[in-house]
Amino acid sequence: MKYIELRKKIEQMFEAEKIDDFADIDWIMVEILKVQRSMLPFYGEISSENEKLIMEAISKRLKHIPIAYIFGKTNFYGYDFKVNANVLIPRLDTEVLVEKLIADINSRRKKVSVLDIGTSSGAIIITIKKETNAECYAVDVSKKALEVAKENAKENNAEIKFIESNLFENIKDLKVDFIVSNPPYIETETVKGLEPEVVSNEPILALDGGEDGLDFYRIIVENAKNHLNAQGMLYFEIGYNQGESVSNLMKEDFEDIEVIKDYGGNDRVVKGKLKG
Ligand SMILES: C[S@@+](CC[C@H](N)C(=O)[O-])C[C@H]1O[C@@H](n2cnc3c(N)ncnc32)[C@H](O)[C@@H]1O
Repeated sequence: MKYIELRKKIEQMFEAEKIDDFADIDWIMVEILKVQRSMLPFYGEISSENEKLIMEAISKRLKHIPIAYIFGKTNFYGYDFKVNANVLIPRLDTEVLVEKLIADINSRRKKVSVLDIGTSSGAIIITIKKETNAECYAVDVSKKALEVAKENAKENNAEIKFIESNLFENIKDLKVDFIVSNPPYIETETVKGLEPEVVSNEPILALDGGEDGLDFYRIIVENAKNHLNAQGMLYFEIGYNQGESVSNLMKEDFEDIEVIKDYGGNDRVVKGKLKG
């Protein structure tokens, strides 16, 4: 079948399923046909073997499985990461958090240490390790997520100490200069109504932040002072409407608190310095 005909047929299937993410059709085509996206419209005849592979991937996407899970990989900050159903797919929004953290780490004169809480695929901490000379630690309560993170660290040649831990439970003596976390922050009630790509595919453990979405921020803020060195910094990714509540939680122990927007103009990061 010709590319144009197959593409039209698939677009109709997407429309019937009310999936408007036509860019995902491009990704599937690019991945299987091994051509640049800009060249797709010029592609001629698709072999029956490739057509079969394309339709297999398309049928998974029509079942609302995200592309990253279909191919088992994604890209974050220019690095490749393996993903599966045990880890959250790293989001473009999280790159803002990482970008700020890298800039702040690299502005320090001495070598610093960083702890990532709820590392999942390891996207944040592996990127930090690649872009700075920090000593890196990461925890997650999910053993299966940590298996993926360790594989990603190995593939990216990044030396990181991974620890299975319910928040600070197994790292009682660890003190670092920077703590970063993109914790589960969606209100329990909201999780249920999320799009099927997220709620039926991504681990609930990575999403549910309790009744008001702030459970993890409360516990991390409360404990951070015991795990930060002098001048230590705390960085959070937040939901678009959590800037004020998370800043308020931090006020007692932190100063110079800043809420930073993502490239879509939404509040996305809160950072603060441990009071001296
Ligand atoms: C939103 S995901 C973060 C993903 C990753 N850091 C990123 O930015 O792509 C939250 C992660 O927190 C982990 N988590 C949930 N409860 C936890 C707990 N009590 N202690 C440690 N990690 C936890 C989940 O397993 C999940 O991997």
